[in-house]
Amino acid sequence: METILEIKGLRKSFVNYEGQKIPTVDIQQFNLYKKEQVAIEGLSGSGKTTFLNLVAGILRPDEGQIFFEKEDVAILSESRRDLWRAQNIGYVFQTFNLLQGYSALENVILGMAFGKGIHKDFALALLKRVNLAKHIHSKPRQMSIGQQQRVAVARALANKPKLVLADEPTGNLDRTHARETISLIQEVCAENGAALLLVSHDHGVLGKLKRVIKMSDVNRAGLPVEAERENNPVKAGA
Ligand SMILES: Nc1ncnc2c1ncn2[C@@H]1O[C@H](COP(=O)(O)OP(=O)(O)OP(=O)(O)O)[C@@H](O)[C@H]1O
Ligand SMILES: [Mg+2]
Repeated sequence: METILEIKGLRKSFVNYEGQKIPTVDIQQFNLYKKEQVAIEGLSGSGKTTFLNLVAGILRPDEGQIFFEKEDVAILSESRRDLWRAQNIGYVFQTFNLLQGYSALENVILGMAFGKGIHKDFALALLKRVNLAKHIHSKPRQMSIGQQQRVAVARALANKPKLVLADEPTGNLDRTHARETISLIQEVCAENGAALLLVSHDHGVLGKLKRVIKMSDVNRAGLPVEAERENNPVKAGA
């Protein structure tokens, strides 16, 4: 099987408020195959969003390679990475990142403008599929959090990307909308032959993906405090 994503020796540290360097992502090897749908689960603070941001080229790694269809995108210049992302990646951000001054429809269309071109009918169809037909002209602040999350999903799928990254895309949805949204993401990925890398805590969502990866199994960087406490109650409590 051909890979869409091949990661080798990926490392990222952050500097904390005390000036200490904290290893956050340390992934030796990770492969995602074309059209594959994979979920990542892990504790809060275990580096899931950081990992997706590295894959999307929003963060630059300290070390390692990120091969996307055999091209190392970690070494592209910032402008080439922005263009590559717009054309190949659909990203449902954990915090949505919608443009506040623009309507739901405009948010989807602006994503298309920087990507593969504007197709208003497809933008409208996607917004209908996430049950936002009545909100196409609403701005983010005129929508509920769950409605905004569904705009973010429509925007991520609008360019028919080869890889969809979804960071807790159902985190703010009730069970019915969560089920519908996850089905939509999976369907659109399958229709377009896209691969999916999805972060979730929701077992209803995780159960729908064939391959589920635990962050603690792939990320060799330090465990979050919560995990240390669970694994070592006496020491952490002292
Ligand atoms: N820009 C940054 N500067 C410093 N530290 C950061 C930065 N971004 C993330 N971190 C730290 O990296 C760690 C991992 O954060 P990340 O957002 O990747 O976790 P997560 O697994 O997505 O958590 P959650 O489930 O809560 O979304 C956290 O300890 C966080 O404090
Ligand atoms: Mg996160």
